[in-house]
Formats: sequence, structure tokens, C-alpha cells
Amino acid sequence: MSERIAFHPTAGAIGAEVTGVDLREPLDDASFERLRDGLVRHQVLFFRDQPIDPAAHLAFARRFGEPVPHPAYPHVDGFPAINVLESTPGHPTKIDTWHTDMTFLAEPPLGSILRVTVQPPSGGDTMFASLSAAWDGLSGRMQRYLDGLHAWHSFAHGFRHSLAEPGGWERLGDAVRANPPVRHPVVRTHPHDGRRCLFVNRLFTTHLEGVREAESEAVLRFLFEHAETAEFACRFRWSRDAIAFWDNRSTLHRPVNDYFPAHRRLERITIAGDRPR
Ligand SMILES: [Fe+2]
Repeated sequence: MSERIAFHPTAGAIGAEVTGVDLREPLDDASFERLRDGLVRHQVLFFRDQPIDPAAHLAFARRFGEPVPHPAYPHVDGFPAINVLESTPGHPTKIDTWHTDMTFLAEPPLGSILRVTVQPPSGGDTMFASLSAAWDGLSGRMQRYLDGLHAWHSFAHGFRHSLAEPGGWERLGDAVRANPPVRHPVVRTHPHDGRRCLFVNRLFTTHLEGVREAESEAVLRFLFEHAETAEFACRFRWSRDAIAFWDNRSTLHRPVNDYFPAHRRLERITIAGDRPR
């Protein structure tokens, strides 16, 4: 089956649509390796017309590693590994920032597999950006400055708006205490292909280590804006039964929240990763 799998690039730097695979079926080893290599190379894979159920979603994710439940999101009944991301008129989503998922963990996820279950009539695209393209796009002088630097990442910083709401600390206080800030290299080396990737993001990165506050703020602001350069990014238009699978070691993503007050619901499995080096 693996020879039928094809990758059709979405944009110059990142993204590919995948054809020739049916995710309702178990993946043979050759197909798994082809998808894993395609994920690392294209950094985010898009699948269309894949009407899978939660059990098939979980089986697909497990080929790549162990699921990690998210401390702040509800899950699908009977599937604690499948988080529900839902936006309704009463509870619109609050995440509108470019980010890499869960970098507040010492071992941030390898990736996430997201599938849409309720699609708004229009809007609700997701954008992705390549952190290897971001690194490659820096001058040699800036790369030398950043190489060897570390940055701090914080759950409480990422969820500060939710924490400030009534009942926020009651809901998220345990997660804040269980997830103290962690330190990661500013540039990481991808464990699979050795590409170097900028590894800071607006949502969770608070400051650079060993640098004065004003310098840290200015450098991070530059890096965040640089990583969001249009030429490093692609944009995915969801369709019924579409799936996005991103490599969380080498990408940023952000939702485009232009569909309120329409209802949107997604199911996500996040896969355990390794310590950035
Ligand atoms: Fe995310």
C-alpha cells in the first residue's frame, strides 16, 4: 500500500496533502515509515475525506508514539487521550496566537493529529509555519548569537488569560502547580533529520536566560515576528473529514478565528516527544 502514498506540497516552505492512504485501515510498516518520513520532511501533513472514528484516530496516533492528554482541555467520552477543542457562541476559543503545542513540558510533544468534527460554514482555517525555514532565514551573525542560548517556557504564562477569569485558578491551579516553568534551547536539532529549528513561541516562551530583560524582550519580539514570515507558512482550508498532522518539533501553528458565532469542534491527539537538544 505504501507505494500509493503521495505528497503534494501546499506551499514553498511547509505542508503537503497526502493521497493514497485510508486511515480507517491499520497502517503496514512500509506505509507508516513513508508517512513518518513525509511528516518530518513536509512538517505538516493534510488528509482529506478520512471518515475515521475515535478508535481509528487513536490507533493511527499510537503508530507514532504514546498519547499525552492536555491538562486544560476536556476529552472525548471513553477516550481520555482525545482532547476536544470546541468553540461555541457562549464559549468562543481564546487561542489566537502562533505557538508550538505544550512547550511548557520538559519533553514537548512530537506532534498532534487534529480532525474536524463540526465545521463552520466558512472560515476557521489553520495556519502553520516552518521553524527550520525560520532558522535558515536568519543571518549567520544572529544564528551565532542564538546558538547555545536557552529560553524559559511557562504553562501559567500561556494560560494567563484563562487563569484571570472567574474560577480560572480553581480550574487550572493544579495544572499550574504540576507544570512549573521549563528551559529549552533556543535552537533545537530535529532528532529525525538533523535540521535545526528555532524553538521559541509567543504563547509559552517568557524570556531568554542570562540576558537583560530589555534585550530578552527585544530579541524574542524579533524572533516571534520573524518566524511568522508569510514565506515560511502555509494555510489549511478544512473540509469535512479532514485531518492535519503536524510535527510539533519543527512548526508553529495558529487558528484563524474568523467564524464566530458559528460552532466549531475538533478532536486532537497529541503524541509524546523527546527533550529538545
Ligand atoms: Fe495548538
